[in-house]
Amino acid sequence: MAVVVNPGLDRSGTQAFPPLSTLGYHQCRWNYNDQEDVKAVDQGFDEYDIPLDFIWLDIEHTDGKRYFTWDPQKFPQPKEMLQGLMEKRRKMVTIVDPHIKVDSGYRIHNEIRSKNLYVKNKDGADYEGWCWPGNAGYPDFTNPEMRTWWASQFAYDQYKDRNILKWEYQIRTRERERELFVPYSSGQGSMENLYTWNDMNEPSVFNGPEVTTHKDALFGRWENRDVHNLYGLYVHMATAEGLIQRSGGKERPFVLSRAFFAGSQRYGAIWTGDNSAEWGHLKISIPMCLSLGLVGISFCGADVGGFFKHPSAELLVRWYQAGAYQPFFRSHAHLDTPRREPWLFGPGNTALIREVIRQRYRLLPYWYQAFYNAYRTGQPVMRALWVEYPEDPATFAIENEYLIGQDLLVHPVTDEGAKSVTAYLPGKEEVWYDVHTFQKHEGAQNLHIPVTMSSIPVFQRGGSIISRKDRIRRSSSCMDDDPYTLYVALSAQGTAEGELYIDDFHTFNFEKEKQFIHRQLSFSDNVLTSRNLAPDSKFTTAAWIEKVIIIGATRPSSVSLKAADGAESAVEFDFDSEASVLTMHKPGVNAGTDWTVMLQ
Ligand code: GLC
Repeated sequence: MAVVVNPGLDRSGTQAFPPLSTLGYHQCRWNYNDQEDVKAVDQGFDEYDIPLDFIWLDIEHTDGKRYFTWDPQKFPQPKEMLQGLMEKRRKMVTIVDPHIKVDSGYRIHNEIRSKNLYVKNKDGADYEGWCWPGNAGYPDFTNPEMRTWWASQFAYDQYKDRNILKWEYQIRTRERERELFVPYSSGQGSMENLYTWNDMNEPSVFNGPEVTTHKDALFGRWENRDVHNLYGLYVHMATAEGLIQRSGGKERPFVLSRAFFAGSQRYGAIWTGDNSAEWGHLKISIPMCLSLGLVGISFCGADVGGFFKHPSAELLVRWYQAGAYQPFFRSHAHLDTPRREPWLFGPGNTALIREVIRQRYRLLPYWYQAFYNAYRTGQPVMRALWVEYPEDPATFAIENEYLIGQDLLVHPVTDEGAKSVTAYLPGKEEVWYDVHTFQKHEGAQNLHIPVTMSSIPVFQRGGSIISRKDRIRRSSSCMDDDPYTLYVALSAQGTAEGELYIDDFHTFNFEKEKQFIHRQLSFSDNVLTSRNLAPDSKFTTAAWIEKVIIIGATRPSSVSLKAADGAESAVEFDFDSEASVLTMHKPGVNAGTDWTVMLQ
């Protein structure tokens, strides 16, 4: 019996269900220099055959740290760049921080000031502090009017490709035009595949006490000392609302935030902030994300590779191997660090990084289902072992390994030069299968596992069915209609259970119009069935079942399939007697229908 964590979730809300693409791999650094650089990085992923869903731009993409704008020299045609990514079915995130440059030539500042929506100092004047743009004002996000206005700025026709208004530009900047060599354009600077990163939303004030707003700064009638911890939540909330509104309420948003509070899970993802390329920081990313999961924030990750300093190739590879098995999977690096795209550490390391990113993509159906579950129940995606095995005291202090959902056990390698790890396999009644070799191990034991650089230990729980997509493509959206492979890992009693969840992977139609497929997969008495858990739902899929792999099986003499219309057919299979693995080839049934497979 699992522990029900976070009983307060009925008040603070469950995890927002993210678009599937956001569970893919994110490539970030402070900063990709310009449009050409973005293009080269994007192409690098194709050249090295590494899947990628998002490229990120940090503060240097803006016109002088004025958020909602683009640097006209480095990013003269943002829409063209976004379009280019869209054609590859990839996406982008730009940073939008909540400190606003005090500059009378900046529309965002002028409007917030004229609406009187800035945080005030104790004397009632606009509060100002230092942050990335220099002198900055801080919008009062505790005020609903501020949040509504902020949300409206994410509309496609508001997020411009330039800061300066046309008339202003013409009057002010004859010389500037010559200097920049770019024509003025009042074009759109955003489109559907542009998402958002909120940083510094504690808020950061470089010259403030404890690097934040003064205790007596005023948010309406409240002082910072009272409402401080809510600020980041409200920034996140207003931004997510903006991304929802710009699509007319259709698309699920994605917003990453650094600051958070109870309830932040409703607005997107959280990362653990500025870490360093050190083994200790890789190690601690595990308990940090486990703790966030326990308070309801499932969509969590750490900067892969470490933000400050330059990782050794070994540390980088180990970090990718851990990050690929944590909910939010993004590499990030400080401005002053050498470049570290996955292909810059020699062919051997590129191959290792490619392999683990591909492992992530294979498992996306499982991650997605785990997030659907977190959205419905609030149960964490990344779980401490004791959540599932509360009767086993040996699990209580473990923080170097964890479960994803109930069924995958992950033990990242977090020590330099490690030749082995000791993983605890929980549960007296359980059996666990190594996902790489299918070797079976009993539960309730410490298992000594030799490791090489090629992978980290991951086990599937006997008694579970995990859906994967084994054809890897350029990005997750290229895989939308690809077929599934079901990994059926048998319990000691020869049974297994699992679920399969499918929808359009990006809109709210699953919620508003019940457009999803949710199936119960069960194996017992040598029969595997797919049963509908959502009879009212109206969604259909083109995806089908390509393979079924039964782990811990015995050799059948024949395998037959019964489809929804009652038609029976023989299924081709082979059996690996050494590994006890039965592989059924092309049952070929649609993933959204009823079917039964019988082993004889
Ligand atoms: C903060 C963020 C970091 C970002 C930097 C510049 O340090 O935590 O991720 O790269 O600001 O925006």
